[in-house]
Amino acid sequence: MKIVETIADMKRIRQQIVEPVGFVPTMGYLHEGHLSLVRWARLENPSVVVSIFVNPTQFGPQEDIDRYPCDPQRDLALLEKEGTDIVFMPPVAEMYPQQFSSWVEVGEVTDRLEGASRPGHFRGVSTVVAKLFNIVQPTRAYFGQKDAQQVIVIKKMVADLDMNLEVIILPTVREPDGLAMSSRNTYLNPEERQAALVLYQALTLAQQLWSQGEKDTEKLRREMLTLIQEQPLASIDYVSIANAETLDELDVVNLPALVSLAVIIGKTRLIDNVVLG
Ligand code: PAJ
Repeated sequence: MKIVETIADMKRIRQQIVEPVGFVPTMGYLHEGHLSLVRWARLENPSVVVSIFVNPTQFGPQEDIDRYPCDPQRDLALLEKEGTDIVFMPPVAEMYPQQFSSWVEVGEVTDRLEGASRPGHFRGVSTVVAKLFNIVQPTRAYFGQKDAQQVIVIKKMVADLDMNLEVIILPTVREPDGLAMSSRNTYLNPEERQAALVLYQALTLAQQLWSQGEKDTEKLRREMLTLIQEQPLASIDYVSIANAETLDELDVVNLPALVSLAVIIGKTRLIDNVVLG
């Protein structure tokens, strides 16, 4: 496994590896969710590149990037075990030199949900992912459904800007009790970890009610909100039932519908989602 820290080296090595190239962008502190993407990339491509870069431009001024968990040695050991060929881990100054001033802005789908709660977040995500795609030039790039809106934004960027790669989405990997795996789960103390189950419980409730015939999204949302409000450590950012492609809010469940939510547990903001249909 090669560890590459500069853009010039990454571009040079890219010319020497066997096509097709599978690419998994990450911010590190890897868990089974990330590794499921790496495994899938490994199955589909003779060459696998993983990036580890905690992207400062996707964190807001109130969001503590310095607190973001990080353990490169552990990450590298996990990636080696999965048969990764190349790990690209550039320093911040390599990706954002002082004179950096160009941004990728994806319209419309970025103005709501995560975009509304985290202004500028998706500008940072689309810019860094565009840069990573240009540097790594993958044949296929792998993303998790866990970040449902991110998936929509990346797919839109790739389509609108005619980027020459395939975007592949894989299902959310969960803990045995249903909590979606996330690097941020490490912030939770034992009591909060238990309370965090309310996200999955609310999504499961919506899924159950819908499969019993409830199509009125206001009723579904109200049931979800009531369940979450019963958890004293939880405060709700949003609960949404939207068209899974446009992210327009729905009055009646039309398929496929994305049920997504953001809930703050203690001080930790968690997101999760399920797709109906
Ligand atoms: P990060 O949060 O590290 O996630 C990297 C990839 O792993 C994303 O595609 C994310 O959706 C996926 N992932 C995270 N948790 C998952 C889970 N429980 N199951 C399945 N997949 C999961 O997302 C980012 O980094 C950044 O925004 C990035 C795209 C790297 C740009 O900086």
